[in-house]
Amino acid sequence: MTTTRSMTSIPTVTLPEEYWLDRGACLASLYAAHGPIIRTQLGQVEVVFLLGPEANRFVLQTHRHAFSYEHGWGWVFGRAVEPRNLLTMDGAEHQWHRALLHPAFAARHMERYLPLLTRIIDRRLTTWAARGIVDVYEEARVITLDVVAEALLGLRPGPEVHLCRAVFLHGAHRRGGEFAALLRSKIAERRAEATDDGLGLLAQARDEQGRPLSDEQLLAHADTLLIAGHETSASMGAWALYSMAMHPDYANRVRDEQARLAPNGKLTFAAIEHAQVLSRAVSEAERLYPPIPTAPRGLLEDVEFQGHVLPEGSKVLYSAAATHLLASIWPEPMSFDPDRFAPPREEHKKVPYALVGFGGGPRVCIGRTLARFELALLLARAVTRYQLAVVPGQRIAQRYGVTNRPLHGIRLGIKLREERGG
Ligand code: HEM
Repeated sequence: MTTTRSMTSIPTVTLPEEYWLDRGACLASLYAAHGPIIRTQLGQVEVVFLLGPEANRFVLQTHRHAFSYEHGWGWVFGRAVEPRNLLTMDGAEHQWHRALLHPAFAARHMERYLPLLTRIIDRRLTTWAARGIVDVYEEARVITLDVVAEALLGLRPGPEVHLCRAVFLHGAHRRGGEFAALLRSKIAERRAEATDDGLGLLAQARDEQGRPLSDEQLLAHADTLLIAGHETSASMGAWALYSMAMHPDYANRVRDEQARLAPNGKLTFAAIEHAQVLSRAVSEAERLYPPIPTAPRGLLEDVEFQGHVLPEGSKVLYSAAATHLLASIWPEPMSFDPDRFAPPREEHKKVPYALVGFGGGPRVCIGRTLARFELALLLARAVTRYQLAVVPGQRIAQRYGVTNRPLHGIRLGIKLREERGG
């Protein structure tokens, strides 16, 4: 006979102030004190945190059909999101839309994106030396937005990209109509002539009855790609650059690896793809600074987790930030130590669903490959060319909202590295 405990048996906690200042550390210590399931109040809403790798597997894989994104992300966005986008769709509708978009994000596309991404990154990086000090968060925001705009939506550098930046980076909401009109013209072009960027794939798609997606649906997808794609990548990019500035020895190793893989500075796809030292720095930034610290779901049916029944309608959050700081998986979890990902340690392989900065399971972030690729490229270009140093006297802190970003930006001093003599 199994004993099933009810919702009321779940440990109930009041979230301490620390939750708003350091969400990962706070939830990791609640996990240590109470275990992987906790009930609490977030504003007016009662929520259940499911914490740790087992919980991640439960939410993202084994019981994923019970966990709704529409009632999770839709709830966080605070409004009925119509038309729905990839993040707020469930079931068959989601599967169909995801399959349509997938080719634009496939790993084989990265090699094709390389020249464009390098141009976008270098366009910014070449200005750094003359400026002396840059806020790498602001820099990363421009770079990552331009990547989505140009690579996925086919906007052209110049006025089109500037309009996109005005709306998404500088809060020019009054120009939203103008931007929508620009996207509509891009959609019309792509309906007339097929392209294989994200917008082109969606514009050409037909459902089982042969019907195309409406312009409104395409605009909703474009909006999601711009929002989901740039803020997250910018945050992780800024923290990764900060980590390089804080750990110059590791930055030198990244640089040495690039010198080996891309001799004479000749960048190739393989130089990024096969750069293990570089890749581990990106993974460590993902672990320490997951841009989506907690992710929401709404329960579509009763489920049982670790002997507790969670009723249909419950609001649930799983947490990358908490999982990434569990000392049982990651010894000395607070220290920046990319070598934890190298053999023989390979701490991320100890248990499934230990590293979930991009989510996991069939609905793992669709932009994961692109984001990792562009961030690796950004780090490689930055540390190859520059010595980075944290400008003293600034307050560096994370701001926890839906995404986690540097609260006051991160200012780094930029010094050109001396060319290596032959
Ligand atoms: C460092 C960068 C990024 C991080 C850390 C990140 C993180 C995540 C996470 C954690 C999820 C899953 C959320 C959940 O389980 O509820 C997700 C989903 C998603 N991400 Fe990303 N993301 C990044 C970059 C991107 C980029 C570049 C794009 C597109 C341009 C993108 C588009 C999406 C979309 C559309 C989804 C929903 C996928 C689905 O449900 O099928 N993300 N992302």
